[in-house]
Amino acid sequence: MTNTPEVVLASGGAPPRHDGRAAGPVAFKDAFAFAFAAGDVDAAPLEQYDAVVSAMPARVSHGTKMRQNQGYWVLDAFARGAVAMQRGGFAPRAGDVLIASLPKSGTTWLRALAFATMARRASPPASPDHPLRRLNPHDCVPYLDMLFAVGRGAVVDALPSPRLMGTHMALSLLPPTVVDGTSGCKIIYICRDQKDVLVSMWHFLKRNGRQDLSLQEVYDSFCEGTCFQGPVWDHILEYWKASNEDPARVLFLRYEQVLQDPAGTVRELARFVGQPFTGAEEDAGAVADIVELCSLESLRSQRANREGAQGVFAKFSHESYFRKGVAGDWMSHMSPEMGERLDGILRERLDGSGLVL
Ligand code: A3P
Repeated sequence: MTNTPEVVLASGGAPPRHDGRAAGPVAFKDAFAFAFAAGDVDAAPLEQYDAVVSAMPARVSHGTKMRQNQGYWVLDAFARGAVAMQRGGFAPRAGDVLIASLPKSGTTWLRALAFATMARRASPPASPDHPLRRLNPHDCVPYLDMLFAVGRGAVVDALPSPRLMGTHMALSLLPPTVVDGTSGCKIIYICRDQKDVLVSMWHFLKRNGRQDLSLQEVYDSFCEGTCFQGPVWDHILEYWKASNEDPARVLFLRYEQVLQDPAGTVRELARFVGQPFTGAEEDAGAVADIVELCSLESLRSQRANREGAQGVFAKFSHESYFRKGVAGDWMSHMSPEMGERLDGILRERLDGSGLVL
């Protein structure tokens, strides 16, 4: 890829550079004020991937073209970028941390928690001008799939290490050196009860222009394995196995566990990325400050999360990323029989893995 831009802080401060000194993660939108609009940076051409994308199985779901890339369903609009990212477009570095998830699994929360934890020295969580008090978490942590889909993945090359980035991609769709671990890139995966995930997805899409969408349609796509990034069981299993093989490289979290013990999760995140809390930080209440900064109430109340939107192919309002934030909401929308059927499918698919959802 060409045209890697100079990093310019929106605030006008000193530009962070990848010069070997640990300085990251920086809030992505501060580093790249243009974010996804990116009108001032030429997009890398993606036409070279047209042939490989046209050879992928395709189907149209509610007017949206989907492609099956190595077994996983993605939006056609994302497919060329996914191939570009996998085949050398994304250059992982030692010290990188990737937040991976299926959509609606608690991605926004985890991105906020990990960002606040990793950036805590430069941006103390209690400070009134913390990036998470003025930016949506997705504007702090770059979403690789989207950047590559619009040919602008090269912008992350200019970010200082350690970088914190996000993806919804399945593990096997990431660059080979991320899959086999030789790049030194770490992964934090978050998984959630799929019944709650699909109910959350239904609400999210309805709040973003798909008022006609029935819960049954979303439910069927989960059971059939044709939902965005599905089949969900394969997506989850790949990360689960990688985490079992090398827990120091892949941290496997559950949304429900984070709900139960957010402070314990923050400590675990800090240890995992090699920045455990010092006694002094513990005494000063740094963990509690991060939990508070990233709580649903706190994030929801920020102006940046009450207005604005994310996305290029479709716009998703910032406020729609924050809803109930509980475990078990599926029971308000689905019958016990529907729940049992999906649980049964997952039990069968995860059989022998040691993972119970
Ligand atoms: P619900 O729709 O069940 O409320 P994602 O970030 O992967 O898109 O997931 C969105 C889900 O995470 C939504 O679930 C949302 O309410 C919940 N969520 C967002 N921020 C949260 C936070 N700070 N704490 C707990 N849950 C949060």
